[in-house]
Amino acid sequence: MAFTIIPMTAHTGAEVRGLDLRQPVDDDTRAALNHAFAQFHVLVVRDQHYEPGDFVRAVQLWGELQPHDKKDHHIPGFPEMYYVSNEEFLGGRRLIPGETFHTDHSNHPAPPKATILYPVALPTTGGDTQYVNMHLAYDDLPEAMRRQIDGLKAVHVYLSKYSPRALKPLNEESLKALPPAGIHPLVRVHPENRRKALFLNPVRIEGIVGMPDEEALALVAELMAHATKPQYEYRHQWRYGDMVLWDNRSVMHKANPDYDMNERRYLWRLMLKGEPPIPVAAAA
Ligand SMILES: [Fe+2]
Repeated sequence: MAFTIIPMTAHTGAEVRGLDLRQPVDDDTRAALNHAFAQFHVLVVRDQHYEPGDFVRAVQLWGELQPHDKKDHHIPGFPEMYYVSNEEFLGGRRLIPGETFHTDHSNHPAPPKATILYPVALPTTGGDTQYVNMHLAYDDLPEAMRRQIDGLKAVHVYLSKYSPRALKPLNEESLKALPPAGIHPLVRVHPENRRKALFLNPVRIEGIVGMPDEEALALVAELMAHATKPQYEYRHQWRYGDMVLWDNRSVMHKANPDYDMNERRYLWRLMLKGEPPIPVAAAA
């Protein structure tokens, strides 16, 4: 199959052209796509034309579907398929899902390795998704800081009492299905590319094991300020036909509410199952 994979920055993101993932894909192509995912962390597969079933089938080239925590928000007939929309309100205020940097579903003991979006409606301008590379952010930390945090573990819950933003409350069915809190290394080792990465999420981190909350929050804030610097970023400007999948083990992401809210922004969303994050000590 003739297709190209072209990096979009020096460190994060690559564009895949020349594939129609509604069609069957051979083993070599599948291997190349999986390798590119671990190497570039964000893949933008251009010019796709999906019905919901096509999208569900296409993403499984990279793994197995992971259901969303919100059981009441799926596309009819597709229980695994959630959506991102600017047409939801919480307490009279418009809710922009994912408005601050985070990683998806890190409250799970085995958080999803990937999240994938496909646009149905886009604003005329704006509404980009920003990604920051957590491998590079880790590599750039001073050695003393790396030594301090390499063995630390953070507690990730559905919604931290310290979260910088609200999440829509879960209904009873969703609460019942919620897994126990995730206790995750602050520095994880990627199972495929073997690089270390910061694993941060202020929306869900409620503490660091063995550390007073005040100190833990200050440490997370310091690491977040570092990791979200522009030099670690790839910023995706959406086009129709883009299927964007990102590696939650390598990047944080955030949505942008910088567009006319009278315009509809609506994307289908899927996730793929991951593994419990690997701590530095286990990978040594
Ligand atoms: Fe997200």
